[in-house]
Amino acid sequence: MTAAARGPDASREPVDASLALYVHMPWCVRKCPYCDFNSHQLKSAAPDASYIDALIRDFDLELPRLQGRRIDTVFFGGGTPSLFQPEDFSRLLGALRRRIAFADEVEVTLEANPGTIERGRFAGYRDAGINRVSLGAQTFAPRALEVLGRIHSADDTHRAVAELRAAKLDNFNLDLMYALPQQTLEQALEDVRTACALGPAHISYYQLTLEPGTVFHARPPELPDEDAAWQIQTAGQRLLADAGYVQYEVSAYARLGKRCRHNLNYWLFGDYLGIGAGAHGKLSLALPQGILRTVKPKQPREYQEQVRRAGSGNVGGADGGGAGIGESSLIAAADLPFEFMLTRALQFATIGGGPGWEWPRSMASLPKGRRAAS
Ligand SMILES: C[S@@+](CC[C@H](N)C(=O)[O-])C[C@H]1O[C@@H](n2cnc3c(N)ncnc32)[C@H](O)[C@@H]1O
Ligand code: SF4
Repeated sequence: MTAAARGPDASREPVDASLALYVHMPWCVRKCPYCDFNSHQLKSAAPDASYIDALIRDFDLELPRLQGRRIDTVFFGGGTPSLFQPEDFSRLLGALRRRIAFADEVEVTLEANPGTIERGRFAGYRDAGINRVSLGAQTFAPRALEVLGRIHSADDTHRAVAELRAAKLDNFNLDLMYALPQQTLEQALEDVRTACALGPAHISYYQLTLEPGTVFHARPPELPDEDAAWQIQTAGQRLLADAGYVQYEVSAYARLGKRCRHNLNYWLFGDYLGIGAGAHGKLSLALPQGILRTVKPKQPREYQEQVRRAGSGNVGGADGGGAGIGESSLIAAADLPFEFMLTRALQFATIGGGPGWEWPRSMASLPKGRRAAS
């Protein structure tokens, strides 16, 4: 923890009671060549459930900062959270509910990879308290799935959607990517049509970007040029609009009443707590203090080790405002206007989109740093 973060008394009344909780689950069956998320290839059949204990401990260390708060949304992101069992989520959510109030209408989203969904799995997640699922479909074209290094087929995605329906988890999102290697306009539009036909409540439509540190960045595949990508994007957006999916953020499209509340919270500058390897958080402290930003150690092993060490005595730090692990920094209230104005501009873009309004091209495919939850 930095010295700046040790000073404030975060235990005073928060500015606003509502809080979004992001939980990072950092393992995948295989690392996709385009992905720079904090995800690590699993070396065993399933992640160790001791990670759940670390998450609970991480939350406990944050608890002194959370007085008067209520959880409005939870987002299990990854990596591939669907590698964990329903019982793991049941245990974690039960532990959290014993520690902090949850809103009656809490939104609890789980990111799932279609290649990890066996029969009955979604019913288990629903019983554990998950009420929204974000499924990484990406594309339905067999060749493209292969080039993207995905571990599933289009049939797996169709089966996963059938499982969602059977579990009555109708509030689900499909992640789609476009401007894929050698993709034509017609192939991209076919993906959008197929996704819409599956009837999700929400679609995230991302342009594939080449992120530093990925295999695709080191050995770039042949991608549609900028104009072709723009054509794919705008034509895809028209199909989405015709099918009733209204754009409310750079890459997010939802049916009426089905926007992702967790996502909106980021865009509207709401507070969020991040637990898990590499998770970021942002908490508004009572004035005149400012905003506390936190980030947990990125490597899962280091994260678990720090949580374990903090568990042997270093709880309830000198500030009385928590002794969370990782790095934290305080943005003083006096330095806030710029950050505040930036977010206001995004708010305007979010809310200001009336009939006929279009996303400016310069904003239509923001870099991944701005990609929120889906
Ligand atoms: C954490 S993953 C979703 C869950 C799961 N790991 C999966 O892939 O099925 C988040 C989403 O970000 C998108 N994404 C990741 N890397 C991207 C990139 N380089 N360009 C565009 N979208 C990307 C993908 O659509 C992916 O589904
Ligand atoms: S896209 Fe999803 S499955 Fe692929 S490496 Fe990234 S987090 Fe894992």
